[in-house]
Amino acid sequence: MIDQMYRKAVLTVAGQKAIENAVRARGWGMAQRFVAGETPQTAIQAVHDLKKDGIMANLDLLGEFIESPAQCTQFADNVITMQGAAHAAGITPYVSIKLSSVGQGKTVDGEDLGLTNARRIIRRAREYGGFVCLDMEDHPRVDQTLAQFRTLHGEFGGQHVGTVLQSYLYRTEKDRASLDDLSPNLRIVKGAYLEPETVAYPQKADVDAAYRRLVYAHMQAGNYVNVATHDESIIHDVQMYALAHGISKDAFEFQMLYGIRRDLQRNLAAAGYRVRAYIPYGRDWYPYFSRRIAETPRNAMFVLRGMLKG
Ligand code: FDA
Repeated sequence: MIDQMYRKAVLTVAGQKAIENAVRARGWGMAQRFVAGETPQTAIQAVHDLKKDGIMANLDLLGEFIESPAQCTQFADNVITMQGAAHAAGITPYVSIKLSSVGQGKTVDGEDLGLTNARRIIRRAREYGGFVCLDMEDHPRVDQTLAQFRTLHGEFGGQHVGTVLQSYLYRTEKDRASLDDLSPNLRIVKGAYLEPETVAYPQKADVDAAYRRLVYAHMQAGNYVNVATHDESIIHDVQMYALAHGISKDAFEFQMLYGIRRDLQRNLAAAGYRVRAYIPYGRDWYPYFSRRIAETPRNAMFVLRGMLKG
């Protein structure tokens, strides 16, 4: 409950224009802890750096609530440019996209623009042997995202496209089971948006319990699982579960956000687990940054200290 109140307070404050302007003006230095840089080159450098520690990468061009269809298509073009830059740098591009950023919900030439642009990005991923994960956004988008995932999975196959499920939503265990016929590559997260009690568990203990159930069920179904969390107790339980059920270390991976728990990322990789860092980059870093602050008061203190130092 406290977590939910804290998150709500931070996201409400962060949504105010004056706060946004103040943080944008003075916050880039602090945002660099969580964001690799503003250009594809800085992100690619981060990929090379992580590789030295045996950590894989997931590139994420930041950009939310992009308004016009032309902006959405431009955004998709930028992702494709980044896939090309990564390929040219010797990296198999693994990227995440938010369907809203590429036009989900906007109809152009009789088709959803998000689907059209996602196709272009996944086609490029297939060309380079890469992968595209469709991030999950706030709850009104879940139905459409899962339907579009199913369509894209049918067209390109599970080795090139996956998606995300959020354990804080009551509906998610049913959603997971409903995807079993695809044997999908799924990322399981707790969920980062401010959701009402009508759709999401308000208590953290319930979110955590649902998280474990989702991961175990997806493993039991024989599917590849991306265990995306910094929660050490869950990570430990997943390791034990895999061991007890004979699930090999290459049947799942741990995923964490760039700049968060690097020690844990390195230790898991050194212990032979597959680990992937989610590397956000780009000029539109503010909404992403706000959500990281909303996750833990420790991060808010880090920002406040930085701002007071000026
Ligand atoms: P929880 O919040 O319970 O934190 C567990 C512990 O981890 C905390 O005690 C703290 O020590 C540490 N921790 C967590 N967050 C931290 C932070 N920001 N800074 C410092 N320490 C932190 N969400 C979504 O809705 N859609 C999506 O598509 C994705 N995609 C995604 C990809 C990847 C790779 C990750 C890791 C996460 C996401 N998320 C997401 C975000 C996710 O929903 C969730 O908000 C965060 O992962 C934080 O929750 P934890 O699982 O880490 O647990």
